[in-house]
Amino acid sequence: MSELNKTALKIVSSGKGVLATDESTGTMTKRLESVMVQSNEENRLKFRSILFSSKSMNNCIGGVILYDETIKQKCNKETIPELISKSGAVPGIKVDTGAKELARSKEEKITEGLDGLRERLKNYYKLGARFTKWRAVYSISDKYPSKLAVNVNAHALARYASLVQEAGMVPIVEPEVLMEGNHSAEDCFNKTSEVIKKCFDELIFQKVDLKGLILKPNMVLPGSKSNQKISSDEISELTLKCLINSVPSEVPGIAFLSGGQSELEATKNLNTINKHNKSKFKMTFSYGRALQQSALKHWSNNIDDAEGTQKVFNHRANMCSLASMGKWTEEVDRA
Ligand code: G3H
Repeated sequence: MSELNKTALKIVSSGKGVLATDESTGTMTKRLESVMVQSNEENRLKFRSILFSSKSMNNCIGGVILYDETIKQKCNKETIPELISKSGAVPGIKVDTGAKELARSKEEKITEGLDGLRERLKNYYKLGARFTKWRAVYSISDKYPSKLAVNVNAHALARYASLVQEAGMVPIVEPEVLMEGNHSAEDCFNKTSEVIKKCFDELIFQKVDLKGLILKPNMVLPGSKSNQKISSDEISELTLKCLINSVPSEVPGIAFLSGGQSELEATKNLNTINKHNKSKFKMTFSYGRALQQSALKHWSNNIDDAEGTQKVFNHRANMCSLASMGKWTEEVDRA
């Protein structure tokens, strides 16, 4: 078994998933200001290090995605990657530099960050990172995503993944078909299938080792502005069908983003997916908002209450862990 495959399997090992704390400073500022906390380096570190020192890190979290600022910070003389590794989780780093306007299809986005990436990766490896993340975004409308956006983002994701493996780290490949819009779940199914298939065509073409990567997709959902209501069973059925038809069997893990679902929805849908999953794919979480929202709210009311904040975070992490094994129930969540 290759080192990359071992790392990927460790991140998605049974009952574990990924904690995504890789919000850029701009996004983190919006999150903190929404709960009336000033966004400065000290506060960003304070909240995040409370999460990284939580008990649930040991049994629920296989990997943590960091942002450039955080991977270089220290907490009580320990570097953040040291603090994370101590709990048994793998430290990771977001390496794209954001989604920018795509030339000739201005309403769409292309993710940037390839220039100088080889050098940045060497540095992140030295800082302790053993996996990375790159996110491409696609909106759905009658015209979009265009073939152009699907092709160029797949190309960039594969170039990124290839450089990351060369540097000895596991790439998380994240093609996110956004939930915003009035499209149906069927549209989401069709577009997500097209996007993922194109990504794997490029990954294979660029000789990326499929056993040494993790896919981070969206679940198949109706658009947030559509009136369509579908059950968790239907979401699970469409999501599994989409992934089983589009993802090569060598891929060791699939870790979903929460993408604007509430904590409860993201947990319930992951649980239903795992209850119905008959494939050999490991299906787990790589949640940002769906793991942090309640903890952030609690913390914002008393930023010195580390213990209380951890209690709230531990509960969410435990619920996601149960859902990753198909063992979650609404009763346990409410208890
Ligand atoms: O790239 C997206 C994040 O890592 C996951 O965030 O779960 O809030 O969508 P989310």
